[in-house]
Amino acid sequence: MTAQLIDGNALAKQIREEVAGRTQALKARGVQPRLSILLVGEDPASQVYTKHKVNDSTQTGLEATLETYPATLPEADLLARIRALNEDPSVHGILVQLPLPKHMDSHKVIETISPAKDVDGFHVASAGALMVGQPGFWPCTPYGCLKMLDAIGYDLTGKHAVVIGRSNIVGKPMALMLLGRDATVTVCHSRTRDLKSLTLQADVVVAAVGKRNVLTADMVKPGAVVIDVGMNRNDEGKLCGDVDFAGVQDVAGWITPVPGGVGPMTRAMLLVNTIQAAERAAA
Ligand code: GUN
Repeated sequence: MTAQLIDGNALAKQIREEVAGRTQALKARGVQPRLSILLVGEDPASQVYTKHKVNDSTQTGLEATLETYPATLPEADLLARIRALNEDPSVHGILVQLPLPKHMDSHKVIETISPAKDVDGFHVASAGALMVGQPGFWPCTPYGCLKMLDAIGYDLTGKHAVVIGRSNIVGKPMALMLLGRDATVTVCHSRTRDLKSLTLQADVVVAAVGKRNVLTADMVKPGAVVIDVGMNRNDEGKLCGDVDFAGVQDVAGWITPVPGGVGPMTRAMLLVNTIQAAERAAA
């Protein structure tokens, strides 16, 4: 079998077009959707990510402002800036790029963002809302994975989904989203015994560990859907996921590539959350 590819670039483009339409509709009502991004320090990867977020936003008609601060910024100053943005009705989404400098408490910083503007979906109120099925912002990466399953018309009801990884921003929320769609969900992690025996039962596997070759062909049930959240570099410095793509594509029914899979979807879902924040504020 050769798996069908789930094209994250094409799907993300479609989603950006939908967001652009919703943005136009809000603008016609006199509301300019706006995202504030705060970057503290000079981490090169964070600089690239935040630049992408600004470009994606502006290309979609959203206004994005990037505020950059030195790594020495006192935590109290960052909290004060977040509180000011919380109070600013012209700002609909607030995103603090992670990681933060070591002297800052990331939890405290994120908890300072108003849940109504938490477009990353990292606030405990957002996590709690997802857990109990209340409206709130969903973390962009697992939300993007769910959209990919929807795009192929996959019905999760009663299916066995295995999530590899238990991070607060991917693994745990992914498991809750799949559960919300009536899948039977197994969450695996570094202490899981006999991972292969579990993934072999899976109709859907989401690999979100951050390590190459976590999932190989011998671990996949024929026809399964494989979603690869990983962003790693191989020995030649080429971008690769957590899944051994070359091997797994011969066994899986559907597979996401790296690059061009989950990555562009994560970026697109930030735009979805931001337009949703603006729509809710304008309602
Ligand atoms: N750093 C790496 N990924 C992310 C993300 O999705 N959001 C934020 N705020 N920081 C990140």
